[in-house]
Amino acid sequence: MIIAPSFLASDFSRCGDEARRVGRSGADWLHLDIMDGHFVPNISFGPAVVKAIRPCAKIFFDVHLMCSKPEILLEPFVAAGADQLIIHVELGDQVTPLLWKIKSLGKKVGLAINPPTAISEVQPYLDKIDTLLVMTVNPGFGGQQFIYETLPKIQQVAEWRRERKLRYHIEVDGGINFQTAAECARVGADTFVAGTSLFSQRNMKAAVKKMREIVKAHDPALADLAV
Ligand code: DX5
Ligand code: ZN
Repeated sequence: MIIAPSFLASDFSRCGDEARRVGRSGADWLHLDIMDGHFVPNISFGPAVVKAIRPCAKIFFDVHLMCSKPEILLEPFVAAGADQLIIHVELGDQVTPLLWKIKSLGKKVGLAINPPTAISEVQPYLDKIDTLLVMTVNPGFGGQQFIYETLPKIQQVAEWRRERKLRYHIEVDGGINFQTAAECARVGADTFVAGTSLFSQRNMKAAVKKMREIVKAHDPALADLAV
């Protein structure tokens, strides 16, 4: 199980301190949302910011590219310290060359899917990725409401993972709090991105621990072991 606070919800006037707070929280990954003002109607931050906070936390940097032209950004984000690069399946024909490019750079490979896109779109790539990110809000902004209609998609990719004996992480992103994390865990998610719900807590360490316990209690695989 992976808990990944999303840096988009941090206080940008104190980037270094916020990254250190995540580093000390017991979280597994730091999720970094990159928005280009074209693929999504918002702009966040770029490789310079990622490079600046890299020394502040010894944690896995999970870089989510919500960008129309990720090909121009892969090398800069690798140089800035990314451990995983996630691109979107909505990019169509570009997906296969992008996945190969990320692999050739020696980094973990992620593929994301937006709520309106049919889940069958990710099927051809499942044996080529380390992480499948199922967006649980429409990307672009933090602090949105979880879209419950995405739960069957999570269930489907968990089924495919079992059937095909694959090992990709099933990551959920958007509107994840203690309650929705439980709902996602129940249908097979194992990697939880949470922005607002973790950064808004005075004690992030306690919040990460609580989210971990809730997920554990709702994970059917772990529940089976307990029987
Ligand atoms: C949404 C981003 C998310 C965002 C989640 O476009 O991809 O990672 O930070 O934020 P919360 O947890 O506040 O919904
Ligand atoms: Zn994200």
